[in-house]
Amino acid sequence: MAGVRLEKAVKDYGATRVIHDVDLQIDDGEFAVFVGPSGCGKSTLLRMVAGLEEITAGSLYIGDQEMNAVPPAKRGIAMVFQSYALYPHLTTFENMAFGLRLAKRPKAEIEERVMRAAGILQIEELLQRKPKDMSGGQRQRVAIGRAIVRNPEVFLFDEPLSNLDAKLRVQMRQELAELHSRLKTTMIYVTHDQVEAMTMASKIVVLRAGHVEQVGAPLDLYHRPANKFVAGFIGSPAMNFVSGVVAEGGDKQAKVKLDHTSENIIVPLARPVQSGESISLGLRPEHTALVDNSPLKGTVTVVERLGSVSFVYVKVGDSLFTVQAEGSEVIAAGSEVGIDLPANRLHMFGADDISVTAGTA
Ligand SMILES: Nc1ncnc2c1ncn2[C@@H]1O[C@H](COP(=O)(O)OP(=O)(O)O)[C@@H](O)[C@H]1O
Ligand SMILES: [Mg+2]
Repeated sequence: MAGVRLEKAVKDYGATRVIHDVDLQIDDGEFAVFVGPSGCGKSTLLRMVAGLEEITAGSLYIGDQEMNAVPPAKRGIAMVFQSYALYPHLTTFENMAFGLRLAKRPKAEIEERVMRAAGILQIEELLQRKPKDMSGGQRQRVAIGRAIVRNPEVFLFDEPLSNLDAKLRVQMRQELAELHSRLKTTMIYVTHDQVEAMTMASKIVVLRAGHVEQVGAPLDLYHRPANKFVAGFIGSPAMNFVSGVVAEGGDKQAKVKLDHTSENIIVPLARPVQSGESISLGLRPEHTALVDNSPLKGTVTVVERLGSVSFVYVKVGDSLFTVQAEGSEVIAAGSEVGIDLPANRLHMFGADDISVTAGTA
């Protein structure tokens, strides 16, 4: 088992820099998830760890060893791709045994390692089938089995569940989390889906345009997003933002004039802000409610009833604000409502989009 460390890692394709000075420590046994929008560099960063992309500058360590110049097969990693990448003409057994046969391992050992992986994944009954005779979920299990058989120091997953339907994705997510708690091997998992990241990771790495925006445990990122990008990316439905300006700055609290409001509101601060600074106030749908009296008012446009909860969309100025309400809340489109602004639930971001508040827990 081994941790993974990147120091000032850079990747250029020609003149274009796609990974910028990434410093990152993934501890031994951790389940790290790289998350971010499409094109932000998640796969590139993972492939740099795997050795499938050269590192332009900086260093990669797996355990204590610098790996920049070490070929993929010697890094102690095993990678699982979205496309499964199974050999179509080989059975499950042979697909899983392939790497061990290449490495000329003894027959009995190959048998033992394949059967052990098949047992962990409960795919023993699939061992004689070929990929075309299996469902997407079964093929993905075989691809994971092929990785387990290699007994790697680090597992690397690149969006392995993206080709599966929603229900199977949820099931496989749980299976992967179980696999991790059973094997306790370091895993790095790439996804654009923040729910996958929140549910599986011990550490989430949020990427944006080749930069690390924030690293932390799932609930750290939820409660204490460092900037507006992370605040808007983590959490579903997404955080609401209202822009405004600081009417009276300070160290501990500020008086803020929000757009479309007449009264100032008071926001407790973790970092000082100046009078006149442009800000965004952030508030999660599940941290507010419809109230009679609030400085922030709007008109209900749509009510989505999910049964357990309802999402009420309120037009404030020209933007929509989402409020999570009771499933039984009776409210009609067209109603004029106030939006509650509880002080301990407010996030605020300065003109540079960096958080100036302490967070919600
Ligand atoms: N071989 C390549 N040549 C040039 N640019 C590339 C290459 N591979 C990826 N990129 C660019 O690098 C950026 C990051 O891509 P990628 O790591 O695949 O993003 P993600 O996996 O987060 O969707 C994108 O802008 C992409 O267009
Ligand atoms: Mg990708």
